[in-house]
Amino acid sequence: MDSPISTFFEGKCVLVTGFSGFLGKVLVAKLIKSTRVKKVYVLIRDKNGVNYKQRTIKLLSRLPFTVDKNANVSYSDRVIPVKGDLTHTGLGIRQSELDILKKEVSIVFHSAAEVRFNVDLSTNYVQNVEGTANLIRICRNFDNILSFVHISSLYSAGHQTVIEDDLKPLDFGYKEMKKCLSGDYLELNDKLKEMVAKFPNSYTLTKALAEDLVLQEMGDIPTAIIRPSIVFVAVQEPAPGWGDTLQGIQGITISATTGLLQTVNWNYWTRFEMVPVDQCANLTIASAWYMVEKSPNKLKVINFSTGPFHPDWTFGRFFSVAREFAVKYPSSKQLRPLIVPPKIKKASILFPVQKFIYHTLFALFLDLIFTLLGYKKILYKYACKLNEGLDHIVFFASHQYEIKTGNYLKLVESLSPEDKRVFPCDLRNLNFIRQIRCTYFGFRKYFLGDDEANIEASRNRSKLICFVYRATKWSFFLILSLSIFTLYRHVIS
Ligand SMILES: NC(=O)c1ccc[n+]([C@@H]2O[C@H](COP(=O)([O-])OP(=O)(O)OC[C@H]3O[C@@H](n4cnc5c(N)ncnc54)[C@H](OP(=O)(O)O)[C@@H]3O)[C@@H](O)[C@H]2O)c1
Repeated sequence: MDSPISTFFEGKCVLVTGFSGFLGKVLVAKLIKSTRVKKVYVLIRDKNGVNYKQRTIKLLSRLPFTVDKNANVSYSDRVIPVKGDLTHTGLGIRQSELDILKKEVSIVFHSAAEVRFNVDLSTNYVQNVEGTANLIRICRNFDNILSFVHISSLYSAGHQTVIEDDLKPLDFGYKEMKKCLSGDYLELNDKLKEMVAKFPNSYTLTKALAEDLVLQEMGDIPTAIIRPSIVFVAVQEPAPGWGDTLQGIQGITISATTGLLQTVNWNYWTRFEMVPVDQCANLTIASAWYMVEKSPNKLKVINFSTGPFHPDWTFGRFFSVAREFAVKYPSSKQLRPLIVPPKIKKASILFPVQKFIYHTLFALFLDLIFTLLGYKKILYKYACKLNEGLDHIVFFASHQYEIKTGNYLKLVESLSPEDKRVFPCDLRNLNFIRQIRCTYFGFRKYFLGDDEANIEASRNRSKLICFVYRATKWSFFLILSLSIFTLYRHVIS
């Protein structure tokens, strides 16, 4: 507990947005567990009929907050929920609470964002850019603000081939976008189209605009912009392989290891960029300390991804190794033989048809069987999500970058030996095979509900399923060929 970072937080109050999210939870848990922070105010909204206090209680009753039951860590004493929504002026926080935050908070971690790729530009703008602007307005009024850490994304610069770790104001920045979206300045519309065309989706575009805003509005408050690539399951904390989201590539990986995925649209040789969620939380915490104690500059961009340090790990290799684990230790939820990652540079023109036949029709067929057997039908929904996910990841799975890591390495190297141990975030030390193993076993345990004890039974089940699947498939082709042949003979005779 006596590392420089832990001591830095001693007696301090912090504000975290995005607490209920994948990264936010791990960040808050780690702050409480490994630093002497006084209070962590978490911005949280009511959702789906559950109020913010109940949501907080529920969140604190699950991983990552339940792992240290015996270690005397009390999360509920130091996590203080503050009802608010980024999209409201003043974040919709009650004045009395705003006054407390103003007096007490000295460090802000901004992790909240709309991360879905299929949301329209204006909604994403309101969430990711105006939401950040609302937060910054409040923070600039805090009496003792020391640093602001903004979680961005590596792909906010993903329209370039070299991802630098410095930032210049955008030609078409957040102010111009606002004018366009509010219907003013029609002459900017061509520029808007140009800007939209550069980015794969409105999420990455609005993350770039939010960075532009942070750059221009944070003034002299020490600010770190953390740019993780794909945030993956934990390598260590709260437990190896822990995760709670199937967004993006995690959803595709789990589909591959259960056999739902049968066709892909990647470039096999594109470098696989990712970071484990716990290391991302550690780097985020360390950057607040770094910006105050070590950094001479007011704003630092920290690119954070495995690619520069593990250039041999490509999409194809990642999925091949994940497949090896899945074949050796199959899940009891395996549906059919697993795809062998195809060595392709881009998808065939038949990809949409393949997706429909291999994923959608297959899911509909199994759902029909489930219904007849009296079970819930769930596969069609997953197949649709998988197909959508594949369309969304094609950009990331076919673009390769040169990622600058100078700022990141300076930060990592400034950590004391104790902090390197308590807040590991040096991706050079990451063992990729171990990470894939964690990922696979994490999926088995946390998403598929399998445990170690059922491996032998799952192996037998997997053999049977693969046999039945292949037998059905070949029988189908045999019957089809015989029918065509009979028809042909009938026609020519
Ligand atoms: N996951 C990745 O692969 C990845 C990669 C690169 C960068 N990032 C960045 O990392 C950060 C965290 O991502 P994540 O994976 O943890 O996302 P996540 O699981 O989807 O969590 C998003 C969080 O933002 C909150 N939020 C969204 N809109 C809000 C609003 N209007 N007011 C208040 N809170 C709001 C959500 O609250 P509710 O629970 O109330 O919805 C949730 O807590 C984001 O900034 C994201 O852009 C993520």
